[in-house]
Amino acid sequence: MELLQTLEQLTNWDGRPLVKYDGVWYPLVIRPLLSIQKYFKAKDSDIILTSFPKSGTTWLKALTFSIVNRNDLNISLLTSNNPHELVPFLEFDLYLHQENPDLQHISCPRIFSTHIPFKSLPESIRESECKVIYICRNPLDQFISHLHFFLENTKTNYSRPLFELDEYFGMYCQGIHPFGPICDHMLGYWDGHLENLNKVLFLKYEDLKQDTAFHIKKIAGFLGYPFSVEEEKQGVIEEISRLCSFENLKNLEVNKTGHIGVVKKSSFFRKGEVGDWTNYLTPAMAERFENMMESKFEGSGLMF
Ligand code: A3P
Repeated sequence: MELLQTLEQLTNWDGRPLVKYDGVWYPLVIRPLLSIQKYFKAKDSDIILTSFPKSGTTWLKALTFSIVNRNDLNISLLTSNNPHELVPFLEFDLYLHQENPDLQHISCPRIFSTHIPFKSLPESIRESECKVIYICRNPLDQFISHLHFFLENTKTNYSRPLFELDEYFGMYCQGIHPFGPICDHMLGYWDGHLENLNKVLFLKYEDLKQDTAFHIKKIAGFLGYPFSVEEEKQGVIEEISRLCSFENLKNLEVNKTGHIGVVKKSSFFRKGEVGDWTNYLTPAMAERFENMMESKFEGSGLMF
């Protein structure tokens, strides 16, 4: 691809290439990105789950799938499939090997996911009535989660001899990480949310952990699938919360073994905690990032 040759590229700390396009450091998904922008046609009934990697995407997929399919036998699919098999990524699954895949046969409402920044979503997503849900997370926890995800999925014969936390953190602070800079990604969806509250729902992993039932209700209402009084009385919300909980999903046989592409299914379920960064980063490292984040978010109303 000619465009690719003109773009700034570097090797990430994990040995994988990153390509800078439109101010964003992408892993090798530029071609899928361009195909998505050119060909993806959103339907009004579509649900697009957007996230920064390692911020709760798997959980959001499980929750949304369960909410939408709660009156259907389909809900039981969650016990026999990893959430990523039920809700495909546009860039890593559907458009990775095909320029213009046929998505018409997928039954409605179609649920897709993506890590593409808000400003780069295909026009039809912005222009149609489809709903967008975004989830993000404290960047320091995201950083630690990504680090473990990478180590877990690294082949034993990986050629880089030594892993350097400081080096990666330095790159992270400069915004050099897949789909980074993370603060721009969050701010993009935050602004999109403020522009149209009915179109973009903005969620934080930490809030979901704190009151999962409240957020299940919120997501259902936002998507136009509100719970009836009867359902609430029957404990349907609590049941969805249990079904999609970290403990339940992690211990399902289907999530313990096997791979999705080159990624171990089990690696999507590590600790599922808030604040794990304190076990790895020094206060000085945290302060460095937090100062940067504060000035970036100043005046936006977005806080972490
Ligand atoms: P940790 O590495 O901190 O444990 P993503 O799904 O975007 O890849 O994010 C992965 C992070 O979400 C991991 O965080 C993972 O453990 C956590 N996670 C996965 N499923 C979860 C669930 N059902 N509830 C809460 N956290 C979950």
